[in-house]
Amino acid sequence: MTPFDFHLPTRLVFGAGTIDRLGELARERGFTRPLVVSDPGLEEAGHVDRALGLLRKAGIACEVFDDFDVNPDAAMVDRGVAFAGGRGIDSVIGLGGGSSLDCAKAINLLLTNGGAMADYRGYGHARQPLLPMFAVPTTAGTGSEAQSYAVIADNETHLKMACGDPKLAFAVAILDPELTFSQPPPVTAAAGFDAIAHAVETAVTRRRSPISTLFSREAFRLLDGHYQRVLDDPMNLAARSAMQLGAYYAGVAIEQSMLGAAHACANPLTARYGLTHGLALAILLPHIVRWNAEGCADLYGDLVGSGASAGAASAGEASAGAAPAEADAGEYLAARLAAIGRSGGFPADLRTAGVPAEDLSALAEAAGEQWTGTFNPRTFGSREALEVYRCAY
Ligand SMILES: [Fe+2]
Repeated sequence: MTPFDFHLPTRLVFGAGTIDRLGELARERGFTRPLVVSDPGLEEAGHVDRALGLLRKAGIACEVFDDFDVNPDAAMVDRGVAFAGGRGIDSVIGLGGGSSLDCAKAINLLLTNGGAMADYRGYGHARQPLLPMFAVPTTAGTGSEAQSYAVIADNETHLKMACGDPKLAFAVAILDPELTFSQPPPVTAAAGFDAIAHAVETAVTRRRSPISTLFSREAFRLLDGHYQRVLDDPMNLAARSAMQLGAYYAGVAIEQSMLGAAHACANPLTARYGLTHGLALAILLPHIVRWNAEGCADLYGDLVGSGASAGAASAGEASAGAAPAEADAGEYLAARLAAIGRSGGFPADLRTAGVPAEDLSALAEAAGEQWTGTFNPRTFGSREALEVYRCAY
């Protein structure tokens, strides 16, 4: 078995209504003036007012930074650092989707360590301790609450920079599934597919370990089994709970095993055309699974074995019952993911998504340079990326 070093630095508080413990937990950790990082959509949904009320009740005054968008870039982080400077901030709370959580980590990093986001690309470049930090996710998708990476886009290229450091881990993550009721249906669909892609990619990377595999498989079982249900019945608490916990487990798996070629191919599509991350993954992942299957059909077989019984009925395809023979596992999983993508309402191919055919070579060059591709089980570079893009076109 592959040796591993497993440590969960984040205290997890999970369950319906657990947001009510925000003030108590913040006081317990000695927060007196947190910076709450939350996007404007969350303020409209009432989550920010609720969080501020809970903190106020615990005697804690806050500052709120909300001047950023989805796929936050380095300039947005710089604005957050400028906002926070001189306000006596002693802690940070990321409240919202992956953008809010990543932005919170990035602002904390630059506030305490100085420099620019690009200086922290890679892993382990923070020299000074960070401010203590909480995560309160309101979507079920990125699993950022479980990771010690801030994913921030470059201002010019819009390509994502993964900036990791053990100090970027949240002290506490509050996972209250009731907060995810406010996700609009397209966000539920796209964020949910992102989490599924995390479960599938982490299950086969070169970095995977017995412990990451445990989280990948349980994540896939929960996400595969509840994706359709959460789309059909958005106020179903059991389904929202399963999706939120599944996304968190997949985030824990990423922390151990990293991601693969589907994310390497998806990132340039978001950078160039602004395609939603989950949408890009929904188009690409079935093709990546088929392309990878030759070398890891057994691992895909284990994954569908963990998810098929609960999930096959929900997507209406790749029928339930006995798991497929190992040789067919890649094709079975690819068909299943394509069916999930259809139920999420995503376009079937890159052509339908509006990607110009003449751009595929340039996209493949960019995909081949993505760090995440180096962890893919099958050797992946620009040539291989072009092969995948052509299959997905
Ligand atoms: Fe992702």
